[in-house]
Amino acid sequence: MASIIVNGGRPITGEIRVGGAKNSALKLMAAALLAPGASVIRNVPDISDVTLMAEVLSVLGARVTREDHSVLVDATDITSVETPYELVAQMRASIVVLGPLVARFGRARVAMPGGCNIGSRKIDMHIHGLEHLGVNIAFEHGFIDATAPEGLKGAEVLLDFPSVGATENLLMAAVRAEGATVIENAAREPEIGDLVDMLVAMGVQIEGRGSSTLVVHGARELSPVVHTAVGDRIEAGTYLVAGALGGGPVTVTGFDPAHLEMLLTKLELVGCEVAVHADGATVRREGPIRPVDVATLPYPGFPTDMQAQFMALLALAEGNSVITENVFENRFMFADEIKRMGADIDIEGHRALIRGVHALQGAPVRSPDLRGGAALVLAALVAEGETVVSDVHHILRGYEDFCGKLASLGADIRMIEE
Ligand code: EPZ
Repeated sequence: MASIIVNGGRPITGEIRVGGAKNSALKLMAAALLAPGASVIRNVPDISDVTLMAEVLSVLGARVTREDHSVLVDATDITSVETPYELVAQMRASIVVLGPLVARFGRARVAMPGGCNIGSRKIDMHIHGLEHLGVNIAFEHGFIDATAPEGLKGAEVLLDFPSVGATENLLMAAVRAEGATVIENAAREPEIGDLVDMLVAMGVQIEGRGSSTLVVHGARELSPVVHTAVGDRIEAGTYLVAGALGGGPVTVTGFDPAHLEMLLTKLELVGCEVAVHADGATVRREGPIRPVDVATLPYPGFPTDMQAQFMALLALAEGNSVITENVFENRFMFADEIKRMGADIDIEGHRALIRGVHALQGAPVRSPDLRGGAALVLAALVAEGETVVSDVHHILRGYEDFCGKLASLGADIRMIEE
């Protein structure tokens, strides 16, 4: 197992470029299943989740090759529609092959994703939506068995909650349905817009991009495409918070700052100076960190994937803040770990009360999940002394060259294999 060791207190300043969005690239790779031929997705980060998705597609019979930050997916000869448990268990996002497989082949057998440590991660909206489109769903031996013997029929689907994954699965299922499908209360995350762009380029007519009502007109045939993934707004936000913690200035490029409007607004409220550019943003802070309340919400609300990183910042505020986690039911594990570094945080259900402290101390801590792990490293950058973050495989799932990028900002940081 690998660990990251940080000696805190170094000034954090400089410029880095982020890669393509993990939470888009994985779905764009799955969308390539919709068309025979070779699609190429550019600006794909070199992270373990992408390796896993490449493995899922290969098991289905696609030919997947990676070169630099591009992935070629040739889905001409798909030989299986079954996604094995051992792969889905490692990466829940594998569930997004369900929509494209059932759309193109009328059949899919995907292992039910387990929960993970941030919540039960249900898939009821995926299932109900697909049933609306004429898919028969059975659950047996831990698998979701989806069949559409008469093909898919366009329908009106109303999502209880703007689920990112459900919106993506239903978008990809609807592209081959007969007639139009309307997805109401669809997720509006920028990664959804990126997927819509790729599907439109493949030959599908889709209205309502960026809104909560998507209309998909089923197409006969789709063609393979070359598509560049949108920049990773969460990776960018993580490094901008590093700048806010360490003082900066830190400039992050490679993403659209309009995709981080709520975070940038909150960074200004805590006392940072934020400058926005066409291709990124710069954050610096001279004065104290001011307390501020945050509630995570579906886009364009405050991103749940930035909640732990922002908690690390508020842990050092001059006063008390409240974070309300409205998206996942168990996404405060990071709090238990940062308290080992001297943070003063009380959790009550979906609310965290953060009483700002003057300083954090370096300590041995354990990465609870992807974003919590990254947030622990951010806290370590400004903690007194040495911090050892273990279980960092979580972090490597979503951050390419995390240590290298932070070192380029001045951090005293290294990764060791134990
Ligand atoms: C995506 O997960 C992201 N993952 C998550 O990022 C992100 O936190 C989340 O969207 C919200 O933005 C990927 O894109 C790979 P949801 P997803 O469906 O699609 C409940 C990260 O750190 N729900 O919007 O699984 C669900 O339990 C990861 O990069 C149902 O109840 O998110 C959760 O509480 C973490 N039934 C809430 O909705 C369903 O059918 C949001 O889930 C589907 C979801």
